Amino acid sequence: MSPTPAIPGAVPTPPNLGVRFAGVGSALPSKPLTNADLEQLMDTSDEWIVQRTGIRSRYIVDHERGESCLTLATAALRRALDEAHLAPTDLDLIILATMTAEMSCPPTSCRLAADIGAGTIGAIDVTAACCGFVYSLNTAYALIRSGLYRSIAVVGADTLSQYLTYDSSGRSTAILFGDAAGAAILRATDDTNKGLIAQAMHSDGARWVDLYIPEDLDRDFPEGHEPSPEHLKRVQMNGRGVFKFAVGTFSDVIQQTLHQAGLAATDIDMFVCHQSNARILSAARDRFGLSEEKLYINIDRVGNTVAASVPLCLDELTKAGRIKEGDKVMFVAFGGGLTWGTSLWQL
Ligand code: COA
Repeated sequence: MSPTPAIPGAVPTPPNLGVRFAGVGSALPSKPLTNADLEQLMDTSDEWIVQRTGIRSRYIVDHERGESCLTLATAALRRALDEAHLAPTDLDLIILATMTAEMSCPPTSCRLAADIGAGTIGAIDVTAACCGFVYSLNTAYALIRSGLYRSIAVVGADTLSQYLTYDSSGRSTAILFGDAAGAAILRATDDTNKGLIAQAMHSDGARWVDLYIPEDLDRDFPEGHEPSPEHLKRVQMNGRGVFKFAVGTFSDVIQQTLHQAGLAATDIDMFVCHQSNARILSAARDRFGLSEEKLYINIDRVGNTVAASVPLCLDELTKAGRIKEGDKVMFVAFGGGLTWGTSLWQL
């Protein structure tokens, strides 16, 4: 029998390869916004904010300086490429996780590809709120393992400050969020020990009203959630509801991922977690008996930076020498959607 001829353009048979992190980078905007600054703008106090969230400062974009989601993403990706010793043209695909795209069309990732000089490679935006970067890591891994792509930039960038109100009417959300971007370059490698060990991606759209940004008034909103004109394009959040959801879900999804991998929490070298609230992170540390060194917290300096939060932590930890080749690292996030997920790697 003659062999079946190859179909031109067919998807390649998945090769036996691993996936590695080749470089990481991050960028913060220029405008610091401390709790003392917020005290001048709204009825709040440093003590209230620190006690409830652990946040002392954050950075927000300065539009007068031309800063935006795109410029932050560009800076972070350039730094990641430099660290990887790669040219923009070495990339095959860019995945940009963001919920604050410059416009709804075009995808901000396309402009990012053009701005860094990556040519006409594929570029997609992923919208999964604070889970965007973790979801995108899992997606990029699968695309590389399939043999379709060899080098993918995964970027998380958000400027939620544009959806916040910096006066007393917006104090329950304005204190939480900061702007930032982080990027990682994933590449195929012959070292099959490197790559994803286990992952989880979940959503519960029935709870969407716990965290949302109304775009117009002509939609169906559940009773009690109908926005007034001043709520348009402003973050609406059920703080207590999200807090309760996060404390439980955060630990459960870590446990589920450890179980899937057949590992114990003590086998993990570093937990790189979405920074939503220092109390939520401390609760996870306590549940798994982790030391401060193993579950990183930087929310005091940068606030909750949405999809940028996980790659920003990754970059800081890598630069500090606290994450290195050979480590087992679990990325964890949750957020609007509601969404939650993990990505456990052997680096
Ligand atoms: N400064 C001072 N007082 C404030 C305030 C602020 N910035 N924001 C709200 N308050 C007031 C409220 O008006 C309320 O006053 P009242 O009792 O007179 O009505 C009181 O503080 C308590 O508000 P509440 O919302 O119940 O506070 P809380 O203890 O739940 O803390 C959060 C609020 C937002 C810090 C907390 O719920 C939280 O962190 N939730 C999770 C949010 C999150 O992580 N979101 C992102 C997910 S990715």
